[in-house]
Amino acid sequence: MLSPRWTIMATICAIQMFLQVESLYEADKIASLPGQPQVSFQQFAGYVTIDEKQQRALFYYFVEAETDPASKPLVLWLNGGPGCSSVGAGAFCEHGPFKPSRNVLLKNEYSWNKGANMLYLESPAGVGFSYSANKSFYASVNDDMTARDNLVFLERWFIKFPEYKNRDFFITGESYAGHYVPQLAHLIIQSNAQLNLKGIAIGNPLLEFNTDFNAKAEYLWSHGLISDSTYDLFTSVCNYSQIRRQFQTGTLTPVCSRVIHQESAEVSKFIDSYDVTLDVCLASVLLQSQVLNQMKYTENIDVCVEDETTRYLNREDVQKALHAQLVGVTGWSICSDVLHYDYQNLEEPTINILGLLVKSGLRVLVYSGDQDSVIPLTGTRALVNGLAKEMGLNTTVPYSVWFEGTQVAGWTQVYTDRLSYATIRGASHEAPFSQPERSLVLFNAFVGGKPLPRPQPNGETKIRKSNGHNLK
Ligand SMILES: *[C@@H]1O[C@H](CO)[C@@H](O)[C@H](O)[C@H]1NC(C)=O
Ligand SMILES: *[C@@H]1O[C@H](CO)[C@@H](O)[C@H](O)[C@H]1NC(C)=O
Ligand SMILES: *[C@@H]1O[C@H](CO)[C@@H](O)[C@H](O)[C@H]1NC(C)=O
Repeated sequence: MLSPRWTIMATICAIQMFLQVESLYEADKIASLPGQPQVSFQQFAGYVTIDEKQQRALFYYFVEAETDPASKPLVLWLNGGPGCSSVGAGAFCEHGPFKPSRNVLLKNEYSWNKGANMLYLESPAGVGFSYSANKSFYASVNDDMTARDNLVFLERWFIKFPEYKNRDFFITGESYAGHYVPQLAHLIIQSNAQLNLKGIAIGNPLLEFNTDFNAKAEYLWSHGLISDSTYDLFTSVCNYSQIRRQFQTGTLTPVCSRVIHQESAEVSKFIDSYDVTLDVCLASVLLQSQVLNQMKYTENIDVCVEDETTRYLNREDVQKALHAQLVGVTGWSICSDVLHYDYQNLEEPTINILGLLVKSGLRVLVYSGDQDSVIPLTGTRALVNGLAKEMGLNTTVPYSVWFEGTQVAGWTQVYTDRLSYATIRGASHEAPFSQPERSLVLFNAFVGGKPLPRPQPNGETKIRKSNGHNLK
């Protein structure tokens, strides 16, 4: 038992810590972002120092849940690239509370802070507002360094926000975050960090180099973007994983060069390979996958004239409101111009790490925007299915539709309560960007540990059945 004296000492200590800590996060509180509508939830932004000596610090933007934040989980979101910004892409283009439009911020009706407290981290240093004052850090950054820094970030962030320390915690992300997310989760488990990590969710993730990249040819062919003869070349002469590998090392052979040029000519430069059916100009949100997709192309991709997010985050008043600074760069950009990431890391599979996470009791959701040809659903689905087989996980919900409102929002297969796969119908590589409502339903089900909505037994949805005669 504690003696009264110790109890008093401990109380004083706790009060001191509380005061200190409170001032820590109060300093990061955002009074208001320029142009934002009035909201009732709190926002914070600022830096967490990772390395004092080298002056390396990571920038975060934290949005409390719209209602009752104390009862909602904490979710970390990471965009991919490697080298792209979770604040610029994730928060301001995908599922944050606001979307920039001209000089103002519009409320996003399907923001993920309806279901959780959302923490957006620009990582590694060199991305967005995150920096290393010693620039030699940028010369070669790899997955291990990213995971280590992200863990240090979390440990120190929880010192700033101690009331979140024991909260149910999820790590989410997309694209190259198919590396960042499982690697960070695995490091948390290995390092015995006292966090209440419950699960991870990753969208259109890079999980296994050959399977993911080689799924592209069939995807393009089956969607009518390339001809039979070009598809034949991919299966018999030179495939995407070879092209990608050669491209990275600057050794594209004439044979493979011919194949990729034929593909480019057929697909044309007027198609967005991150969403093969959507008529959009390429917003900055798509740049993260340009890094992943850089074996293209004949010309620079036509970026939207108005890049709202980049303009917004480069405003001085916005940077001031966010407590952000530019260190060693002249402007904020959606994907880093200074970082040299070790591209060998792309070939490191992470599907096996998902297996380890499932084994250690975490909930793992893998999802695919089904209009993406960069990391197509077919490769991802095969990888998850293969993992379930290998681990002997039985299917508890067979491949079937899930609903949002009265429409099919995608397909899902569940393997025990710990591993599941879902597609989001009509969604791009950045699913919440093109299908915000369906993405929010999937997200809420995931963090809430609930099954996805199923069709009503009596068929609320009226389906116009073909009578077999009409072709219209
Ligand atoms: C900067 O970083 C590099 C490598 O990360 C290190 O070797 C060097 O000593 C650092 N420079 C200073 C001034 O600390
Ligand atoms: C395609 O890629 C796989 C994986 O890298 C490789 O093993 C295979 O030989 C390649 N096939 C063709 C036809 O190039
Ligand atoms: C999966 O199903 C098989 C056959 O129904 C059963 O024998 C096995 O124990 C199940 N495995 C798990 C992990 O539940």
